Amino acid sequence: MPKERKTIILAIDTSCDDTSAAVISGEDFNMLSNIVSSQSEIHRKYGGIVPELASRRHMELIWPVVNEALSTAEITLSALNAISVCYGPGLIGSLIVGSSFAKALAYAASKPLIGVNHLEGHMFSPFLSKEERPTFPFICLIVSGGHTSLYRVEGFARYSELGRTRDDAVGEAYDKVAKMLGLSYPGGPIIDSLAKKGNASAIKFPRPFLNGSLDFSFSGLKTAVRSFIAAKEFQAVTLEDVCASFQESVIDVLLKKVDDVIKMEKIYSLVLAGGVAANSLLRQKMTALSQAAGFSLFLPPLKLCTDNAAMIAVAGYFYYQEGLFANMNLTPKAYLPL
Ligand code: KG4
Ligand code: ZN
Repeated sequence: MPKERKTIILAIDTSCDDTSAAVISGEDFNMLSNIVSSQSEIHRKYGGIVPELASRRHMELIWPVVNEALSTAEITLSALNAISVCYGPGLIGSLIVGSSFAKALAYAASKPLIGVNHLEGHMFSPFLSKEERPTFPFICLIVSGGHTSLYRVEGFARYSELGRTRDDAVGEAYDKVAKMLGLSYPGGPIIDSLAKKGNASAIKFPRPFLNGSLDFSFSGLKTAVRSFIAAKEFQAVTLEDVCASFQESVIDVLLKKVDDVIKMEKIYSLVLAGGVAANSLLRQKMTALSQAAGFSLFLPPLKLCTDNAAMIAVAGYFYYQEGLFANMNLTPKAYLPL
């Protein structure tokens, strides 16, 4: 029997400050390459992302990164089935670089083009795990630097939003609190590691549960941390205690919302994705909750929580299967709801 040829997808993500390209073989979600060139070094000195600098850097990196993704995967352009690109939501200048490049490449190589929503990428990132893969339907909680949203996912392209943040995204709250504390950018991983040495009950920060709503709000919590720092109550506790107490508050809210949504929707399967899904305590506590509440938990591999093109390739594969292709009019969008 001849070996069946697999569907090979090249994907590009330039939605924020990482330039990424990846190649996967669709049927088994095998990641043949995933190159992520981080720009954190550039933006760190400004305490956050400078959009104009991000776009310029994407422009410099896009070809070397795509080239490296192809050569690492030992794949030539002619062997591709499709080119998948994230066209929103994100920083518009950054999205324009990735989308224009993907369009030009698809045209030159005569390959179908696929436009993927960045959030869909995060949603399908657990398919890259070597462990059990999610099956539909599932609940999806995306916790990233730009989004905090809950979805009911019936299948590919069948999503309904159940809740979202009314102000700051979780990752944004982590980054802003880190900045207040004089920590570097991105703040999430730094708070994660400092919190391990702190006392989570040292300070009782608010838990914004919003009376049973499935929405989120983290700006009040952020203000509470700011007031705490301004009141110089800091002397009584350590930096590590502030990090641990802030983080405890965030995680308590996320766990409560998940517990509520599982009971309300009666879907016993949860995908937790996005940059903040890399948080060690969140992973640990969500795993414990899944066991106590009896639902299956699907997490992306640790390295694929933050932005990467492999997840855009997975979502692209679902589009490919449905024959849903974009054309040369594909237009990047800063705001692009799922
Ligand atoms: O998904 P992502 O790479 O970009 C967006 O789509 O926004 O998420 C980036 C966010 C940043 O806010 C970063 O601080 C946060 O994810 N993050 C973390 C951790 N690793 C990354 N937050 C908490 N704990 C972590 N270990
Ligand atoms: Zn993201």
